[in-house]
Amino acid sequence: MDAAETLRALFTSGAASDPYPHYAKLLASGECYPLPAWSSAFAVGYAAIESVLRDPLFEVLGATGLDQSFPAWREHPSMSKNAVNDLNGSDHTRVRGLMSRAFSHRRVAGLEPAIAATTASLLEDMAVRGAAGEPVDFMRRFAYQLPVTVICDLIGIPVADRETFRPLATDLVVGLIGQRRPKEDALALADAATVRLNEYFTALADDRRRQPRDDLISVLVQIRDAGDGRLSDAEFLDNLNVLIVAGFVTTVNLLGNGLALLLADPATRTAVRHGDVSPAAFVEEVLRYEAPVQLGIRRAAADTEVGGIPVSAGSAVMLLIGAGNRDPRRFASPDRFDPRRPDAGSLSFGGGPHYCLGAALARLEATVAFSLLLDRFPAIAAAGEARRVPGPAFRGFEFLPVRIS
Ligand code: HEM
Repeated sequence: MDAAETLRALFTSGAASDPYPHYAKLLASGECYPLPAWSSAFAVGYAAIESVLRDPLFEVLGATGLDQSFPAWREHPSMSKNAVNDLNGSDHTRVRGLMSRAFSHRRVAGLEPAIAATTASLLEDMAVRGAAGEPVDFMRRFAYQLPVTVICDLIGIPVADRETFRPLATDLVVGLIGQRRPKEDALALADAATVRLNEYFTALADDRRRQPRDDLISVLVQIRDAGDGRLSDAEFLDNLNVLIVAGFVTTVNLLGNGLALLLADPATRTAVRHGDVSPAAFVEEVLRYEAPVQLGIRRAAADTEVGGIPVSAGSAVMLLIGAGNRDPRRFASPDRFDPRRPDAGSLSFGGGPHYCLGAALARLEATVAFSLLLDRFPAIAAAGEARRVPGPAFRGFEFLPVRIS
């Protein structure tokens, strides 16, 4: 199989269940590959991916990219492109500066008691459900619950509203990235959810205008109301919606991937539980070994090159983050899970100007979750076959049954 065939196989077959042999093949003979049939290049090496992420000549697709690939996008509310992850240049710097306030060291650290309390109550719920040796689905009962609760706390969504809010947020996420639906159905679902979420956030903003609180929505409302051009209405709404998507999918997968590794590796489980390996180091290696977001994408704003491969203006470069994390030029024995590795690190939160805004929050959630979980359920074990998220973009589980006693 040549490189082009390996790349196609990654995107077209069941390779998602184990992409790593494909990555290894690609990494063995290069940093970057052209795939002219898809008018793209694929960066697979750590250095190539990092250089693209840091180079301002490579932009996120945003409105310009969609005008090229899907000109009807403006008719779809869910495809609105004013969130921080869709902006380039000075617009990106301006909006990111505002959003960063929600993720300051102080604010993230301040969420720790709430994260610990939510974790404890979810573990209690699992304990009740699994008391008689019944299998409990860790994804449904824990991994989906914790990040959603945390993002609601961060934005400032009142507990009383969460029953209404949650199905809308789920529809948005399933619509945008659910790989088990026909594309048109998925988009219609995401569009309808976006319209209702925008109505919900507009009403909540009115409420916070009258009675500000110490939450993200109050901060953003004040900035928008200043009317000095720092934040438009569309930016206000799109950024709240993107946090839901970012908060729902990625940390969920980090939690599932981490638990699956603990279930498969009793020695690591004991080491983390007894503090021989810190939960933070464990989480860092889970991020490297099983990147929740496997793919990134950039668009070249001008003719350039990556890893010696010419890239023409307007064409896309796919970043195989999951491959970069297993690059033997960057990591010794990259296919070995080793939370004690001296060359720790990864591309899992991206890099450069779009580096993940929620990285510290995700790390904190996972660290708290795994320490409390191992304390509470030292004998946790797999209880049957798990099911992986389909497709090459995300790495995680839809279903991960465990037995806790
Ligand atoms: C394990 C969990 C997470 C992973 C693996 C992850 C991964 C990433 C990656 C790879 C990027 C860069 C995308 C690119 O460069 O194109 C990114 C950006 C971003 N992430 Fe995360 N993320 C996680 C958790 C979160 C959480 C919890 C939030 C918010 C609550 C969040 C909010 C964002 C935002 C707003 C951006 C865009 C930043 C920008 O464009 O300037 N992420 N994330």
